[in-house]
Amino acid sequence: MLKETLTTRWLLALLASVLVSSAALAADKPNVVILATGGTIAGAGAEATNSATYQAAKVPVDKLIAGVPQLAAVANVRGEQIFQIASESITNDNLLALGKRVSALVKQSDVDGVVITHGTDTLEETAYFLNLVVHTDKPIVVVGSMRPGTAMSADGMLNLYNAVSVAASKDARGKGVLVTMNDEISSGRDVAKTVNIRTEAFKSPWGPLGMVVEGKNYWFRLPAKRHTMNSEFDIDKIEALPSVGIAYGYGNVSDTAYRALVANGAKAIIHAGTGNGSVSKAVVPFLVEARGQGVQVIRSSHVNAGGFVLRNAEQPDDKYDWVVAHDLNPQKARILATVALTQTQDSKELQRMFWEY
Ligand code: DGL
Repeated sequence: MLKETLTTRWLLALLASVLVSSAALAADKPNVVILATGGTIAGAGAEATNSATYQAAKVPVDKLIAGVPQLAAVANVRGEQIFQIASESITNDNLLALGKRVSALVKQSDVDGVVITHGTDTLEETAYFLNLVVHTDKPIVVVGSMRPGTAMSADGMLNLYNAVSVAASKDARGKGVLVTMNDEISSGRDVAKTVNIRTEAFKSPWGPLGMVVEGKNYWFRLPAKRHTMNSEFDIDKIEALPSVGIAYGYGNVSDTAYRALVANGAKAIIHAGTGNGSVSKAVVPFLVEARGQGVQVIRSSHVNAGGFVLRNAEQPDDKYDWVVAHDLNPQKARILATVALTQTQDSKELQRMFWEY
């Protein structure tokens, strides 16, 4: 009888010590929430050799987390499946819902950082959007992968580990929304997908902010443009995003696509121009007409590797009352334009915003 009692007490004491130690361990770890949206990082292919042929947006967030047990050593992690889509299909409504969820989470004292798993096709747009509208200095890290988890040398596991590691880091605070891909830590404002079938796909024209290696961050520069806490845009005050379309410039172009965007209600047109945002003489007259109808015209360039569109070069922007997108590629210019148009219809204010964000 005595022996049984002692054994029971010993087991209870052991259980208590395990619970206390795990609670204590958990208490000293940052709390990171992973919001899953889909993409290749949640993709699945038929064979391990399928690095490019697979279905995106299949694997649920809890399986993503279970697939990287090492996360538990870095942070207390929990997941939410906010949507499950391939990112080429992300809509403005998806952006609003995601932004509002992130904003609510970062206000919670028991959340130290947020990771968003996302398809790589429009990852750069979502990262820039959050950079503009979420008021926090807590780390928000957007991450994807170029290969599905079922493929040999899949990049998603390490990308996710790095993202959680950065999101759990105090030294990642106040640096704006970040993107961790291929061991680099990039600014959500600057980074873009520049290659479509390699793991080294994401580049910033001005370089990454740093690197993350074996859970440690190495910083080399800081963002120069306004973001998050220093932004005049606030997701909690935005209920709808105006329609902004992009039309591509090229040889033999006509104004057909531009006309269709305006006819379909676009409040601004992003001209994805050749060279320095040049505009064909076949398109200029309609853009002048569209500006006269109150549509904003923003010149960007589809050449985007460290240059920027100069005001009044190639086109008389002052005369036409057009805006230049500075160094933003067309898809990022669309994000800033749609957010900016929730605040102003004044083209000079719009231009200020393109210089500052
Ligand atoms: N369908 C693409 C997307 O969801 C796959 C690309 C990827 O996620 O890497 O963005």
